[in-house]
This record gives sequence, C-alpha cells and structure tokens, in this order.
Amino acid sequence: MHVLITGGAGFVGSSLAVMLSENRGFSVTALDNFRRRGSELALLRLRAAGVAFVHGDIRNPEDLEGLAADLLIECSSEPSVHAGYAGGTRYLVNTNLFGTFNCLEWARRHGAGVIFLSTSRVYSIAALSDLPLAVEGRRFSLLPGKTGQGWSERGIAEDFSTKGARSLYGTTKLASELLIEEYGAAFGLKAIVNRCGVITGPWQMGKVDQGFFVLWAARHLYGGPLAYSGFGGNGYQVRDVLHVADLYDLVSLEIDALDHLSGRTFNVGGGLAVSVSLAELTELCAKETGVRLALGSEPATQPVDIPYYVSDHGAASRAFGWSPARSVERILGEVMDWLGRHRNALEPVLAERAAGGKV
Ligand SMILES: NC(=O)c1ccc[n+]([C@@H]2O[C@H](COP(=O)([O-])OP(=O)(O)OC[C@H]3O[C@@H](n4cnc5c(N)ncnc54)[C@H](O)[C@@H]3O)[C@@H](O)[C@H]2O)c1
Repeated sequence: MHVLITGGAGFVGSSLAVMLSENRGFSVTALDNFRRRGSELALLRLRAAGVAFVHGDIRNPEDLEGLAADLLIECSSEPSVHAGYAGGTRYLVNTNLFGTFNCLEWARRHGAGVIFLSTSRVYSIAALSDLPLAVEGRRFSLLPGKTGQGWSERGIAEDFSTKGARSLYGTTKLASELLIEEYGAAFGLKAIVNRCGVITGPWQMGKVDQGFFVLWAARHLYGGPLAYSGFGGNGYQVRDVLHVADLYDLVSLEIDALDHLSGRTFNVGGGLAVSVSLAELTELCAKETGVRLALGSEPATQPVDIPYYVSDHGAASRAFGWSPARSVERILGEVMDWLGRHRNALEPVLAERAAGGKV
C-alpha cells in the first residue's frame, strides 16, 4: 500500500506518516508547504521513519502531478477556527476548500481512496451555544438527564445541527465534506470523513488560536503569557482531547475498512472520559511542573467561541470496536516529557507565539 499524506509535516500528518510507515510497513509520501511554523521540524522524524517528503502546496494541482498512491490522507489545512476574521479569508478558502478539490481530483484520476480530516467545527455555533450547561467544580457540564437532537450526556453525535454559522474554518470543512460525498456519488470515490474534536500529543506546535493543550504545557515549562478568554474568563470551557496515537489506531482500522465503510462520517474524539476544562488543565500543569502561573482573564466571548464540546464517538466505536485508550493525564505527561527533551528546538517555535509571531 502506498499512502500520500497531504499536510504530512503537520502535527497529525507527520504523526500518521511515521506510524503508518513504522507499524504497517506502508510506503508513505508526505507533502507539505511548511505554512505552519514548526512543521519543518518534522523532516528529521519523517526521514528516520523512511517517509518520503515532497515540498508542495495543495493549492497548486501541478504540485500533486507525478505523485501516485493507493490512498490519500488529507491533513493539510489552515486549522484555526479564528482564521480569516482578522485578515484575509483567501488562504483559508484556497487551502481548505479549493485545495481539497485539487486533492479529490487527484484521487479520482489515480483511483485512490481518501480519508479526510474534518472537524467538530462543522456543527452550528448557535446550537452548541444553546446546550444547557451548569458549572460543576471548575468546568461546564451538560445538565444531567437532558438530551436533544444529536446530543446526550455522551456528547455531540453526527446528527447534531450543522445549520447556520459554524465559523469560516468549519464552513470550508463542511463544504469539503459535501464535495467528497458528491465525488462518491459521481465518480465512485471511496472516502471516510472524520470530524475530529481536539487532537493533541507530542509534535503539535501549539499556539493561542490552535493547539491549546500543548500551549498550556509549554507556557508552564518555558514561561510566557497565558490567559483564559471568553465565558467570563474563568477557564470553565470544556473540550475532549484525543491522543494522536489513538487517532492513528482508528485511521489504521479505517484504511482496512474503506471498501465497505466508504461514505461514512464519524465524530472522533476522546469523549467525556478524556475531556478537560482550561481551569482543570492549569491545575494539572501546575501539578506536573510545580509552577503556578498568574493567568490573565479576558471575559469577552468571541463569536466563534463555544463553551462545551465533547465528541460522542459511539458510531466509530460501534463500527470499528475502537475507543480512546489514553487519559488526559497520560497525554499531558507525554507532552511535558517531549517539551523537556526537545527544548532547544521547540522553545524558539513555541515562544515566538508569545511575542505575537507568525502562524
Ligand atoms: N489538531 C486538531 O486538534 C484538529 C482538530 C480537528 C481537525 N483537525 C484537522 O486535522 C488536520 C491536521 O491538523 P493539524 O493539527 O495536523 O494541523 P497542522 O497545522 O499541524 O498541520 C497542517 C499542515 O498543513 C500544512 N499546510 C497548510 N496549508 C497547506 C497547503 N496549502 N499545501 C500543503 N500543505 C499545507 C501546514 O504547513 C501544516 O504542516 C487539518 O485538516 C485540521 O483541520 C485538527
């Protein structure tokens, strides 16, 4: 099996590339344009794992020409929900939507299957904001015993509303999902879509608007500013987190099942058992490091902020017998260990964010 991974020097792409090459013996090619600061650090890991690297941009169809594979895993993106609001929207739409189109055209011509990394942000911001929440300890939680269309105490399922605003980022991903569905109907493209909650782990280049888990750990270890933002500024907002190795376990099963599960869409995340609020994460980081940071507080809520997202991964669990194996504490321990071992390489990348540096 030959696999092409676009965004293959990014956090998810490089992690999947290394694991598919080392664990499954697949021949893997990673393509990336190094838009994300820190992605260049993946080159050594990719080479050590025997992954071929191509410097290319999915906005340019010609960069994909000449590449051949049986499977495309599409991981290249502008992955921030805040993208497009302060500056232009062109990069976001050209990469996340037209770039997907280029990838689908490539897959169609090569008869390759597709695994697409989509996002939980395809769901309606208004509907997510309307979930009935209470404060429990230092986190928001869903009111017990309540359920609604597409949600229950297990979290958000695939039939939750996607109507109405869902962020520019989420909309480029939902539009890509629709294209994928259409390519299935029109051209028989085989594809599985994963709507991911927060994925994290070593080699994520966390920054203020994307990758909060690593950012939190890095600030505790390396120093730098950190603030709770939105919902009163207390840090009660909750996300489920998934270790990228748990994501790999699922993707590996999906590759084997692509022929008979093509067309399916799955919510993928750590679920309620692997969820954390920012305030709880601060406490865990303080325990790990012995450092108590004085966090800032920005009470105002941005239009794309949501107070609570936990993936109901029941459909993926039923289809594949898969469930997340790694706890919040274990993920944090691995991230701290990684930050400590690679400080020389990582600190300039992660600290640059503190100075308001580039993506
Ligand atoms: N990490 C998460 O929490 C998360 C959650 C939900 C969905 N996702 C999705 O998973 C995928 C991977 O995300 P990630 O966390 O690895 O992000 P990342 O930013 O670490 O990786 C994305 C990679 O794509 C590259 N890239 C950007 N534009 C490109 C272009 N035009 N051509 C080629 N390469 C380009 C970047 O340089 C980067 O290396 C994305 O599609 C993202 O939307 C991630």
